Amino acid sequence: MKFFIDTANLAQIKEAQDLGILDGVTTNPSLMAKEGISGDANVIAHYKAICDIVDGDVSAEVIATDFENMVKEGEALAALNPKIVVKVPMIKDGVKAIKYFSSKGIKTNCTLVFSSGQALLAAKAGATYVSPFVGRLDDISTDGLALIEDIRLIYDNYGYETQILAASVRHPMHIIECAKMGADVMTGPLSAILALLKHPLTDSGLAQFLADHAKAAGK
Ligand code: E4P
Repeated sequence: MKFFIDTANLAQIKEAQDLGILDGVTTNPSLMAKEGISGDANVIAHYKAICDIVDGDVSAEVIATDFENMVKEGEALAALNPKIVVKVPMIKDGVKAIKYFSSKGIKTNCTLVFSSGQALLAAKAGATYVSPFVGRLDDISTDGLALIEDIRLIYDNYGYETQILAASVRHPMHIIECAKMGADVMTGPLSAILALLKHPLTDSGLAQFLADHAKAAGK
């Protein structure tokens, strides 16, 4: 399972990269705004800075919502760095844009996916990644994880190569359940990734080992 971090915060991206388990980064316009990044030149510079930190794919979202401008924006983003994946919303022109990018060998991430029908369209258009938003479905009392299971079944039925990128992951159990269901990738905050580390028996066991070692050494 690939681990992506869902942030535009350079310090957090670096922390996850230094841990040695990071496979990529996803961003969106809200995450960029949260870091105070605005204006075309600053946005471009920020994507370049992220690409300099990580080894894997970096999703950069188009702002346009019409086919022509999505293509223009996406081509400019893809030209920044081979790590860039053009993130395109699941709308009619977005599907057309994904098909176009896929024919040009440009990697795409189809975002804002909330149903298996949308995921099926993304795969048919040739998306590299599809991003079903698990947490946002949970937020409206709908089972976000069930969507991951449905998409896995549908993609496996037909051998679609589009990778399921479980997005809007909020906590460690989301990650574990997505892994059990066979999601190819998950993207979430650093806190959810670091929470996987935690177990009280690890902490108490380590404390005991260190205490026994010190005792045996007469300290
Ligand atoms: C996906 O790529 C999105 O950036 C993201 O996962 C949205 O997560 P949120 O619902 O926590 O904002």
